[in-house]
Amino acid sequence: MSMREDLERIEAAAKEALEAAADGKALEDVRVKFLGKKGELTAILKQMGGLSADERPQMGQLANKVRADIENAVSERGAQLKELLEARRIKEETIDVTMPGKAPRVGKLHPLNKTLEQVEEIFLGMGFEIVEGPEVEKDYYCFEALNMPPHHPARDTQDTFYISDSVLLRTQTSSVQVRVMEKNKPPIRIISPGRVYRSDTIDATHSPLFHQVEGLVIDKGVTMADLKGTLELLMKRIYGEDTKIRLRPHHFPYTEPSAEVDLMCYNCHGAGCPMCKNEGYIELLGAGMVHPKVLENCGIDPEIYSGFAFGIGLERLTMGNFQIKDMRMLYENDVRFLDQF
Ligand code: DAH
Repeated sequence: MSMREDLERIEAAAKEALEAAADGKALEDVRVKFLGKKGELTAILKQMGGLSADERPQMGQLANKVRADIENAVSERGAQLKELLEARRIKEETIDVTMPGKAPRVGKLHPLNKTLEQVEEIFLGMGFEIVEGPEVEKDYYCFEALNMPPHHPARDTQDTFYISDSVLLRTQTSSVQVRVMEKNKPPIRIISPGRVYRSDTIDATHSPLFHQVEGLVIDKGVTMADLKGTLELLMKRIYGEDTKIRLRPHHFPYTEPSAEVDLMCYNCHGAGCPMCKNEGYIELLGAGMVHPKVLENCGIDPEIYSGFAFGIGLERLTMGNFQIKDMRMLYENDVRFLDQF
């Protein structure tokens, strides 16, 4: 085969290889293969010595032309590839800004927390402070300091889970009253929300774990009228301005006098309906004037100070607030249910 044919073949092969090179790396490989120091063109040029004096300049010229052609083809293909790759990248990275977005799923406050926030806001507005107390509590704070010594019958209704003989899961947030009065001198104005525990069987209105909001006000000259006014304001804010409450005489060992507080039925406004069992009112919380003995237990002189206390079941308040009929719904974490609030 003549050198001319070799050179023509190399040029054709180089152009074909360049056509096939799909990225920068392949392109560089082709360049080295044909134009490199150990490349095919160099190998041919080494044979120039064997040519006649006539042929040598002709072949030299042709070889230079082939080299220049291949070099041009390499840079042309390089520019082409750059455009091609860029176009592909743009296509891949393109986003259709007119497509509807994926809405991130935003969580919501649990209805219990919603009600609690509402209650807290109302009391903060009346100058109350919010305090918390331990759920694992001493018998002393949960019962004894509240006028319920061991074997007191009132303990029967609040059976709980014992950690030891003297440590238990609190059955009521009333324990926080004692802790607050031990540490602070009047005037005292607090609410204390939190979890409480009782060994009750789960049904539509009972759970071994539920929530209360305790309230305590101690100052000079505090009366039952203050208690009623405070609770009435709370209920009007939650259930509407036409809401009424009703105090019924009751007994709690740590208040004297004591009352159960009923709320005018939010369903029938007092007329009587299945919701309130035709009573017109729904029982909502316990309250009373703090017993002098309890004040004394906490180092507060009952001759100088008086006060009221109350304990609200947050579940009951929430169920009324959102018309929820079964307490268990509040704990099952069914998103279809929770989404509604
Ligand atoms: N601790 C009571 C209960 O769990 C509720 C209660 C009644 C709280 C009277 C009080 C109160 O502070 O004065 O049923």
